[in-house]
Amino acid sequence: MQDLAGRTAFVTGGANGIGLGFVRALLAEGCKVALADIRQDAIDAALATLDNQDVIGVQLDVASRDGFAAAADRVEAELGPVSLVFNNAGVNLFQTIDDSSYDDWDWLLGVNLHGVINGVMTFVPRMKARGGGGHVVNTASMAAFLCGPQPGIYNTTKFAVRGMSESLRYSLAKHGIGVSVLCPGLVKSHIFASDEIRPDDLKAGAKAVDATAVGRLEQLHQAGMEPDVIAARVIEAIHANRFYIFSHPEFRDELREVFDDVLEAFRDYPEDAGFQQRLAFEKMRRDGYRAARQAARGDE
Ligand code: NAI
Repeated sequence: MQDLAGRTAFVTGGANGIGLGFVRALLAEGCKVALADIRQDAIDAALATLDNQDVIGVQLDVASRDGFAAAADRVEAELGPVSLVFNNAGVNLFQTIDDSSYDDWDWLLGVNLHGVINGVMTFVPRMKARGGGGHVVNTASMAAFLCGPQPGIYNTTKFAVRGMSESLRYSLAKHGIGVSVLCPGLVKSHIFASDEIRPDDLKAGAKAVDATAVGRLEQLHQAGMEPDVIAARVIEAIHANRFYIFSHPEFRDELREVFDDVLEAFRDYPEDAGFQQRLAFEKMRRDGYRAARQAARGDE
């Protein structure tokens, strides 16, 4: 998509960090922008810095399906049809899966995965029905590829966002709607304060907040990439209709290491009874998947 000017964009988690970077970059591209966030005080503070007629704030918990539909209705009534969707809101939680509760799962899955699903389910049918194309950017993370013991639930949500984004890319290509997945490393953002916005009904199973650990995270994130740098890389990737947006080039070697480990895990087993028949099916599937990738890139 070459020209974003005049389109309406919906950005979740728009009041801080990467989302606010998106908002600034989209306004600079000439878009009308809805800045959606769960924190009303942060929405107000962000709007005060923007001084631009073409942006409105919308308070929204992305985990709410009804809330999402209502927000979309309001934004489309005020700014026109949304054709650029940035499912970016996210929260983090650093603890191992075996140390976590169902409340921990419900919180992270609700925001990081269902928030993205809700954005897709709300806007994609509207975009398809109207024609006119568009683009969806889902914010995952390098944690969509790289696992450690601590961010177990976070890893789960980000792997899922990556998978759903890739599948969606292939189904939407014929509608002229592009899909990209953003996989950042460390970002200068407010995500260290995620505990502040954990819903009350999911607090019973939460561990006590470790203020020292949160303070350490805050310091760490100060060294993160500036959101405006990431946003510029995302806008360029939308123009080029690229699926993977690796904003942080320092991860290339580590990814190679991980993929090498994955390939190393294959074994040369002796052929089992169904092997040859399966090969014929897999060839057909593989050709189909390759064609889908080519079509989504626009190089059929
Ligand atoms: P941030 O905390 O600065 O911004 C996220 C915004 O999302 C906040 O304004 C917050 O109020 C909002 N939000 C949280 N829960 C919400 C909900 N239920 N409904 C609506 N809004 C909600 O964090 P950051 O870092 O900019 O995060 C943006 C995305 O980037 C997230 O998906 C995160 O997982 C991802 N990411 C962040 C990295 C980092 O180092 N900060 C690294 C890789 C990915």
